[in-house]
Amino acid sequence: MNDTVNPEEIVSELLKKVKFPGYSRDIVSFGMLKGVYLDDGKLVVKIVMNDVEDGNAQQIKEDVRYVLEKESGYDNIQLDIENKTKEVKQDQPLDAKQISDPQPLKGIKKIIAISSGKGGVGKSTVAVNLACLAAKAGKSVGIFDADIHGPSLPTLLGINQHPEATEDGMIPVDKHGVRSMSIGFIVEKGQPLIWRGPMLNKALEQICEGTKWGELDYLFVDLPPGTGDVQLSLAQKYKVDGAIIVTTPQNLALEDVRRGTMMFKQTNVPVLGIVENMSYYQCPNCNDLSHPFGEGGGGREAESIGVPLLGKLPLDPQTLVLADQGTPIVIAEPDSDTTMNYLTIWQTIERML
Ligand SMILES: Nc1ncnc2c1ncn2[C@@H]1O[C@H](COP(=O)(O)OP(=O)(O)O)[C@@H](O)[C@H]1O
Ligand SMILES: [Mg+2]
Repeated sequence: MNDTVNPEEIVSELLKKVKFPGYSRDIVSFGMLKGVYLDDGKLVVKIVMNDVEDGNAQQIKEDVRYVLEKESGYDNIQLDIENKTKEVKQDQPLDAKQISDPQPLKGIKKIIAISSGKGGVGKSTVAVNLACLAAKAGKSVGIFDADIHGPSLPTLLGINQHPEATEDGMIPVDKHGVRSMSIGFIVEKGQPLIWRGPMLNKALEQICEGTKWGELDYLFVDLPPGTGDVQLSLAQKYKVDGAIIVTTPQNLALEDVRRGTMMFKQTNVPVLGIVENMSYYQCPNCNDLSHPFGEGGGGREAESIGVPLLGKLPLDPQTLVLADQGTPIVIAEPDSDTTMNYLTIWQTIERML
């Protein structure tokens, strides 16, 4: 082996070929490669995983060994692989540096990410209503719509204007006491977004950082659905204080919740819990409850993943009508059952933060 070549560089390059199972992202970008050195001609590679599920951990181990044995040029290889399962489960202080070095955003006390496995489960609706409740309770609140696939903040909050641009940044649009910024303010409605990959991440960062949020108690971030690049880079770039996962009770949606939870764990973002949306329908005439999307899925899933079920929200035609009109239900109908459910959820979240 050519000793003038840095083994760390070789290994780092090679291990970029090893994807985290089920993700397009590689294990190096997840921060798992912790050390590479030579010990008397033997290549020692140290990998640390953070509560990775056994099957995935085994897969990563095999892939790493395969790539290194095949392509590193070293015959004698020692793999030191650690999976810090128990430490994380016991809720010991998390080593945030392990993945990257997420930064708080200036002036912002807490960042709350709202995520979901799939689109259309009500992620944005939940984000907007929680933000409005917090604002009504006197907090200074912002909401950043980072959902590039379907920025819905302008519709949900009934905003038709562009944010004002000043020399030192954009001024978020204030509606219902919430300062909001959306990629939808910047890209014309119906226009396909041409940014991809790192460009897209950069654009989102610039929009978020280029916004004059002022002092905020809470910034809600409406993430795109799924566990792609945007979610990961936001979680790695900013210190996210908690993630809320919105789902419907269907099994299909729940499979994605599992992946979402996994992603946040991996980036050291505490998952505050699951909100089960469209959980039940109450007939306005006879008050009978029915479960059009199945019953209790969110609770079962929350239990199996070990995160709290923050609450359930009804399938409520008013939620939809009001959302389309740009007035969140917690503002338009402050005394409704749905608003009460939101309130309970928000109080739980606030306690956890
Ligand atoms: N609990 C609910 N009851 C009835 N309609 C809802 C409910 N939650 C969301 N919706 C409607 O479902 C659609 C998708 O919601 P949205 O919040 O945009 O989802 P996402 O952000 O997950 O794509 C919207 O038309 C919204 O008004
Ligand atoms: Mg949305």
